[in-house]
Amino acid sequence: MTSIESKRVQYRKYLERAGVIDALSKALIKLYEEQNKPEDAIRFVRKFMCESCPDDAQYDLMKNDLDEAKTTIARLEQELERLRGQIKKSPEEYQELTMAGYKSLIDDEENVSSLLRKYLTPELLEEYMLVTTPSPVDAYLYDCAVSGFEHHDAPVGIYAADPECYDVFTKLFDPIIREYHGQEENDSDMLQKDVDWGNVDEIENLDAERKYILSTRIRLSRNIEGLPFFPKLTEKQLIEVEDKIRAATETMDGELIGTYLTMGDIDTETQQEMVKRNVLFARGEGYLQTAGCYRFWPTGRGVYHNPAETFMIWSNEEDHVRVISAAQCGDLGDVYQRLVTGIQELEKNLTFIRHPSYGNLTACPTNLGTTLRASVHIRLPLLSKDEERLKVMSEELSLTIHGTGGEHTSIEDGVMDISNKRRMGFTEFELVKSLQDGIVALINAEEELEIAGQEG
Ligand code: ARG
Repeated sequence: MTSIESKRVQYRKYLERAGVIDALSKALIKLYEEQNKPEDAIRFVRKFMCESCPDDAQYDLMKNDLDEAKTTIARLEQELERLRGQIKKSPEEYQELTMAGYKSLIDDEENVSSLLRKYLTPELLEEYMLVTTPSPVDAYLYDCAVSGFEHHDAPVGIYAADPECYDVFTKLFDPIIREYHGQEENDSDMLQKDVDWGNVDEIENLDAERKYILSTRIRLSRNIEGLPFFPKLTEKQLIEVEDKIRAATETMDGELIGTYLTMGDIDTETQQEMVKRNVLFARGEGYLQTAGCYRFWPTGRGVYHNPAETFMIWSNEEDHVRVISAAQCGDLGDVYQRLVTGIQELEKNLTFIRHPSYGNLTACPTNLGTTLRASVHIRLPLLSKDEERLKVMSEELSLTIHGTGGEHTSIEDGVMDISNKRRMGFTEFELVKSLQDGIVALINAEEELEIAGQEG
């Protein structure tokens, strides 16, 4: 007998000895004898074999208990998060956490590409570790770097906890900002030009026949003067931001007229649907979570939107304010026009923080400058097959190309998410105009491929 066969025989004997074969046979016979065969046969067998199985009524009771317990846990977790958010750490605790966080980042030899790791030298750490921004915020270096200390794969790894961080910790932030925004060659202090919305009429519908572009979207980030950024916002200040946004939207006119909805009043299912339609945002991004972005959720979060869902203002997503204009077509001109009207209306009622070097201030250094991200969802089935050419074109045209579902997704059915790569060093108008030129160039390339295909 081979060794496998002998093992099999042994196993069969063991099952017989233990009564397993007998019990299973009885269950199968019982099922065989059953006049009305149950839909859920596994459940029948399981019930037959399990002496202390709950009956259906007991099962329902237990399920109810479990659901209730889950709700209680969720409530307590939220409460815990709220209380945690109120704890003030001592300087000694900050020092300890900073040193431990830094060590874990530096010791990791696999993830070495974050800008935090590159620019936070031991000397800078020493210099900044116990420095804080002015009271009452008192933001430490740790409040800015905690996310990068924990997530070693983050390309940047740092947020500003309040507007002052950019100057108080300038020897760390400045090189990170210059490298991220490709401003290393620029030795001037002023990295961002003044706001210039330009001649809005020069921005056009890029696909009047609706052949290629599925949707268009532009967003801006803003933060209200006099308040810290998300890592240091108190529960009261989150509400203050929301109140200010709500009040500021009351004067909106024409197609910008809409309603403000606070997150806590929107049921979970509706929230999910709105997130899918890009009208609302969700919580849960890991880098932001660690940096403290979701403290006191859903307090102070919400959205103002018009009925057509072409104009949105988000409250306390990542920055205090996000202004979004969108369309389900390629009419970039229409989207830009609405955005400019919307932000100018908001600016009548709210004062946003600006920096002499960096332009509009945002919590994340990647969004500084214009804070403008303009994107189209575009279907270019022929061009999208030529990855090499796409790469070359996107570099030349300063475009970022993502997959169908946005960052870190693949291109499906030739649909791509294409946006301006740059945020800083150019005016708002220059960025939108350059996206327009880039998209026109890509569509032309697609059309050439179509013609070549027909001829060949
Ligand atoms: N903290 C991340 C990093 O270090 C996020 C970068 C940009 N994303 C954002 N939502 N701000 O790379």
